[in-house]
Amino acid sequence: MKKIFITRKLPEEAVSGLREAFEVDMWPSEDDVPPKEVLIKKAKTVHALWTNVGDTVDRDVIHAGETLQVIANLAVGYNNIDLEAAKERGIIVTNTPGVLTETTADLAFTLMLAAARQTGQAERFLREGKWTSWSPMGFTGMDIFGATLGIVGMGRIGEGVARRAAGFDMDVLYHNRTRKVEAESMFGFRYEELDELLKKSDFVVILTPLTEETRGMIGERELGLMKETAVLVNAARGGIVDEDALYEALKNGDIWAAGLDVFEGEPIGSDHKLLTLPNVTALPHIGSASVKTRLAMMRMNAEDIEAVLSGRNPENWVV
Ligand code: NAP
Ligand code: GLV
Repeated sequence: MKKIFITRKLPEEAVSGLREAFEVDMWPSEDDVPPKEVLIKKAKTVHALWTNVGDTVDRDVIHAGETLQVIANLAVGYNNIDLEAAKERGIIVTNTPGVLTETTADLAFTLMLAAARQTGQAERFLREGKWTSWSPMGFTGMDIFGATLGIVGMGRIGEGVARRAAGFDMDVLYHNRTRKVEAESMFGFRYEELDELLKKSDFVVILTPLTEETRGMIGERELGLMKETAVLVNAARGGIVDEDALYEALKNGDIWAAGLDVFEGEPIGSDHKLLTLPNVTALPHIGSASVKTRLAMMRMNAEDIEAVLSGRNPENWVV
């Protein structure tokens, strides 16, 4: 019987179908990450690894996988997996595109609203018993309605954010490597080079994958081009925005606020320097976290594992 190792405890309804045909070994915790030695040990004997963005599936793990046929990642992004090593070994990598688009676009929009209107900061103030009177200029933020939104990475989720922005009467700019001419005329958004987008936007939302090309794409120079009143949202991956440069820009008032769902070196602790800044709204990488979407992502992974282990092609084949 072929074997599957799942790196986190998943709901039984997501796994029960696989148990009928395969031997399923599931890590007992939802939150603790199996150490690298465990991943290597498991990779040696299983036919499928079911991983997520919190697992580093590097060359050592992949090359240990003597019987390994498929790595299914519970995410659309796959920068946590060494694709070159997987290709070398002929191991298939699968992901979960599309099904999480709207949920993640909701969260990116939530971060725009929360950072612009300082809702996290205001709630902490209230909970800490500091609310003594209605304050004429207290917690005054930036307007979203009618503002200019710049989306860096106009893919599935980027388009989802742009569609939401129409309801807020926003002017939408975008930057990609390739222009989306049809979508430009259909939805009325405009292509800009990155520098121009940064100069013109009141909100900049990052939604590219993390690649060698996008790593550090938003650094000191780029932040320096943004308006002092601008809000930066990163709902994609830590590492795309240079965190040291972002800290300085927020501290010095070069930009107004940031909304961050992702960080370099996740999970971060409460002592992370960005969390010392009042103008940072921070979340623990929850972009796709709705019950419906997470269960749908799990179904996609399970179907793809089942397909590969049964000798069929998976739907969501990365390499
Ligand atoms: P997608 O449809 O592939 O969109 C990515 C977009 O980025 C594409 O339009 C791509 O267009 C653009 N892009 C790639 N490299 C670029 C570069 N160097 N410069 C400018 N644009 C570039 O992917 P998606 O489904 O929207 O997901 C996007 C990313 O969001 C994922 O890769 C993942 O890392 C992240 N994500 C995060 C969460 C979360 O929980 N926070 C949830 C889901 C996804 P071109 O190739 O034409 O440039
Ligand atoms: C989450 O970060 C994803 O890439 O799906």
